[in-house]
Amino acid sequence: MSGEPISRRRALGLLGLGTAGVAAGAAGWATGLGAPPSSRLKPAAQGQGLAEPRVLASRDGLLDVRLVAAPGVRLAGRDTTGWGFNGTSPGPTLRVRPGDLLRVRLVNHIDQPTNLHTHGMHVSPSGNSDNPFITIEPGDSFDYAIRIPARHPAGTFWYHPHHHGTVADQIFAGLVGALLVDGVGGKADLPVDGDRLLLVTDTTLDGAGRVASPTRMARMMGREGELVLVNGQHQPVITAAPGSVQRWRVINGCVSRVLALRLDSHRLTQLALDGALLPAPVDRDQVVLAPGNRADLLVRPTGSGQYALVSDPYDRGSLGMMGGMMDGGPSASGPVTLVTLATAGPATTSPSVPATLSAPAVPQGPVTRQRRLTFAMGMGRMGMGGMGFTIDERTFDPDRDDQNVALGTVEEWTVVNTSPMDHPFHLHAWPFHVLAGSTGMPPAGVLQDVVLVPARGWVRLRIPFSDFAGRSVFHCHILDHEDLGMMATVNVRG
Ligand code: C2O
Ligand code: CU
Ligand code: CU
Repeated sequence: MSGEPISRRRALGLLGLGTAGVAAGAAGWATGLGAPPSSRLKPAAQGQGLAEPRVLASRDGLLDVRLVAAPGVRLAGRDTTGWGFNGTSPGPTLRVRPGDLLRVRLVNHIDQPTNLHTHGMHVSPSGNSDNPFITIEPGDSFDYAIRIPARHPAGTFWYHPHHHGTVADQIFAGLVGALLVDGVGGKADLPVDGDRLLLVTDTTLDGAGRVASPTRMARMMGREGELVLVNGQHQPVITAAPGSVQRWRVINGCVSRVLALRLDSHRLTQLALDGALLPAPVDRDQVVLAPGNRADLLVRPTGSGQYALVSDPYDRGSLGMMGGMMDGGPSASGPVTLVTLATAGPATTSPSVPATLSAPAVPQGPVTRQRRLTFAMGMGRMGMGGMGFTIDERTFDPDRDDQNVALGTVEEWTVVNTSPMDHPFHLHAWPFHVLAGSTGMPPAGVLQDVVLVPARGWVRLRIPFSDFAGRSVFHCHILDHEDLGMMATVNVRG
């Protein structure tokens, strides 16, 4: 964070002046408005306080919102040509409860087709619900109506466009938002002193504030942006009292980047994975989130000082032979700071974290069918002309039914990755239970919706198709790979 204009804006922000003040104060700090801006923060943390998107919450069983996807948002404290919903990136946080109806009128004011996906939600994939096959042309709008089941788990979800071929570009430009499901009756599931949203995205901006296009190699590797943002801010600060109990809902909204989260001098206690509370809190030195994954973390600030929440370098593998002699891999060589925790004020004593959590039950029942799916990179069936990211040797075709499933059954899927890089497997609408995997990592024990399938490895999943007939998709959540074809359909027939 260097550069005089940015620091001036930040300083004006601290003084409560809007952007209108920036032009008026253009003489700048250098000519002597007195104390340097950073001295006004106590403690002397760099960066702005973490801001959160506007919250739109349901009332009397309904949340009815209009989301306008359009260019022109602030990212990392700069005016950019990035895209947002209703003028911000992330867009508004949608807060709903089990049993609610979520209505969204999505208005497309960008110059390419788009649509909307409610990532991780166990809702109908059909009609005008969470239907990934919908296309909303530029200038058009579409009315979604998504009924949230009365027994839907409370937790952290998110929304983003899902128009095949442009998903990575649209998310990289800023089209993301959080979708939080509260408990029945709006009841908090855990008593905490602070409940913060940390929606992490990455992007690359040029000097004029334009979002950069990736090279072909970066697309194949899965692009990683130079800037890692939290709620659209670069390295904001969270201030909290020592001893307090903070819940951080971290969403990995990056196109391709795996987050390996670590907090200086603190252990992270994981409360939830994707949309579900774990059976019990788990203390971890590092929490790994593939693109699409979420973790609710419990943080108890200790001492007095500043501690960075970082993402450590994570090796996603390589393109192998597909990469040829070219170097397209991510350049990150050290930890990237996401936010700084600044502890300040008198110590508080907060209730301790319960030893067990009310994890939603994992549906049981005999496995009726086993399938094996192969995620691969290479020629596929396309011959020498095209190199592909394939599932069972095919790239995506929205009109083909790849897997036919009977409604009301439980299936066991083994997802095999023959390629030299990791691919995060994601299935819409029907969250799954991870049974085992080639890394030997113990499964989380709750339903989740994204799991990293390691390079030349496998995972085994148990999927209850207990509700919702209809067609949807599963894919690699490195969204460049999804756009390049690593997606397939599933038709659940009732
Ligand atoms: Cu978050 Cu089909 O994706
Ligand atoms: Cu999804
Ligand atoms: Cu992939």
